[in-house]
Amino acid sequence: MSPFHLTRTLPEDTTGAALRADVHRGLTGRPKTLPPKWFYDAHGSDLFEKITELPEYYPTRAEREILLARSGDIAAATGARTLVELGSGSSEKTRHLIDALQDLHTYVPVDVSGSALSQAGQALAAERPGLDVHALIADFTAELTLPDTPGPRLVAFLGGTIGNLLPAERAAFLASVRALLAPGDALLLGTDLVKDEEVLVRAYDDAAGVTAAFNKNVLTVINRELGADFEPDAFDHVALWNTEHEWIEMRLRARTAQTVKVPALDLAVDFAAGEEMRTEVSAKFRQEGVRAELSAAGLELAHWWTDGPGRFALSLSVA
Ligand code: AVJ
Repeated sequence: MSPFHLTRTLPEDTTGAALRADVHRGLTGRPKTLPPKWFYDAHGSDLFEKITELPEYYPTRAEREILLARSGDIAAATGARTLVELGSGSSEKTRHLIDALQDLHTYVPVDVSGSALSQAGQALAAERPGLDVHALIADFTAELTLPDTPGPRLVAFLGGTIGNLLPAERAAFLASVRALLAPGDALLLGTDLVKDEEVLVRAYDDAAGVTAAFNKNVLTVINRELGADFEPDAFDHVALWNTEHEWIEMRLRARTAQTVKVPALDLAVDFAAGEEMRTEVSAKFRQEGVRAELSAAGLELAHWWTDGPGRFALSLSVA
C-alpha cells in the first residue's frame, strides 16, 4: 500500500454557495443558462458513464485510442515524475498513462468530488506500490495550489472538458495552468475536433435518450439542493451546433408556460412556452485554434496526436 493523502482546499460549504450563486445568476439572466458543472451528482455521473458507452458518443473511445497508442511517446517526451490530473473523476482513463510513465513518483488527482477522489485515489495507491497518491479536492477553474512534489510535472486535462468553458474562461484557465508549470513541465490536453454537424449533434442527442436524461438531471440537482420544484418532464432536451462559435449547445426547452419556485434563493422563475435555457456548451476545436489559445497562455504546442479518423486530439505543450 503506497502513501495516500487527501487534501481539501475547498471549504465544505463552498459547493452550496457556488451552486446558489450560479443558479441565481443563470435563472435571472437572459437568456437563462445553467453551468454544466452541476450535472455531476452521483446520478449524473452514472449517466455520464453511460453516455461514454453509447454508439453515438465517440470522444471517450477516440481519446482512449490515442492514450493507448501514445502513452509511451508522452512518457518519453515528458519524463514526468509528477502527474497532475485535473477533473480526474474515477481516474479510469489515466491508468494506462500512469503505467507508461516510468519515472512517475507522485499522482495528484484533482476533483471537486471528494468521494470519487478518495475511492479512486485509494484504489490506485493500493494497486501501484511505490506510487505516492496525493488527491486534491479543489475547483481547478477557480484556484489551484499544488503540493510540493518532484518535477518534471505533467498536468493532464482530458476528456475534452476544456470545451465546457467559454472562450474567456478558457483563456483564464490556461493562464492559471501555465502558472503552475516550471520550465520542462508540460500540459496534456484533450480536445474534441470540429467535424460533420450530424455526427456531432447525434453524439449529444442519442437515440436511447441517455443524454436527454443527463441534461434534465441538472433540474433534479437544483430541486434537491435548493428545494426547487422543476418538473423535468415539462422540458425537452435540445442539442444544436452553433456554427459561429463551433460548439455544441445543450438546452432545455419549456414545453408550456410555467413558473418554477426556488425557495433557497427566494425566487420564482417564469418560463414562456418554448423558452430555451442553455445548460452546456461543448466547444470543438481545430489544431490552429488550440495552438493559438495555448500560445496566448504562454504554452507552446509540441505534439498533436489524433485518433485514426481524426475526431479527437491530444496535444502536449510545454512551458
Ligand atoms: C465530459 C464535458 C467532455 O462535453 O462532451 C457529454 C459532457 N455532455 N454529453 C462533453 C457531455 C453531454 C462531456 N464532457
